[in-house]
Amino acid sequence: MTTLISEAALQARVKEVAQQIRADAGAEPILLLGVLKGAFMFMADLMRQIEGDVTCDFISVSSYIGTTSSGEVQIRKDVDSPLEGRRVIIVEDIVDTGLTLHYLQGILQNRNPSSLQTACLLSKPSRRKTEVPVDYVGFEIDDKFVVGYGLDFNERYRNLPFIGVVEGGH
Ligand code: IMP
Ligand code: MG
Repeated sequence: MTTLISEAALQARVKEVAQQIRADAGAEPILLLGVLKGAFMFMADLMRQIEGDVTCDFISVSSYIGTTSSGEVQIRKDVDSPLEGRRVIIVEDIVDTGLTLHYLQGILQNRNPSSLQTACLLSKPSRRKTEVPVDYVGFEIDDKFVVGYGLDFNERYRNLPFIGVVEGGH
């Protein structure tokens, strides 16, 4: 395992992103919408660093891997409360091709939030298949398969407090 982003670097950047999110929102209440499972650790640290009125909810989606290239996703677990009129920020672990996020943004926009933004811990711009707006990006990384801090390889490594690259992996 090679460390790509250390625990200290993650914590420092998450704090910066949180402060930017609050600065942009003013005093408005914020609803953080975490995409399970990968975003749960980023979500917890991000929320802790946002001051004022902030609530959270979670959504779980499954990609139709192998059956379509449209990136169409199915909602496995939906949010608990309506998004209408709320200031919503989707919290994702990583934007790779952008297909999952693109589809999710479409579904959520249909529920008429007052605004819909996206915060991603990581982004691999070189892998993008569709242009997708991301308002807050923690780190842009090269095309390497990464794990840790919530991100998995076959459900493992989510517990690592840093972002690493598995040797001999992808
Ligand atoms: P996209 O639709 O291609 O953008 O898929 C993004 C999803 O693929 C993320 O939410 C992750 O669950 C997963 N993913 C993409 N790249 C990685 C990686 O390097 N490590 C772990 N999961 C990844
Ligand atoms: Mg994900």
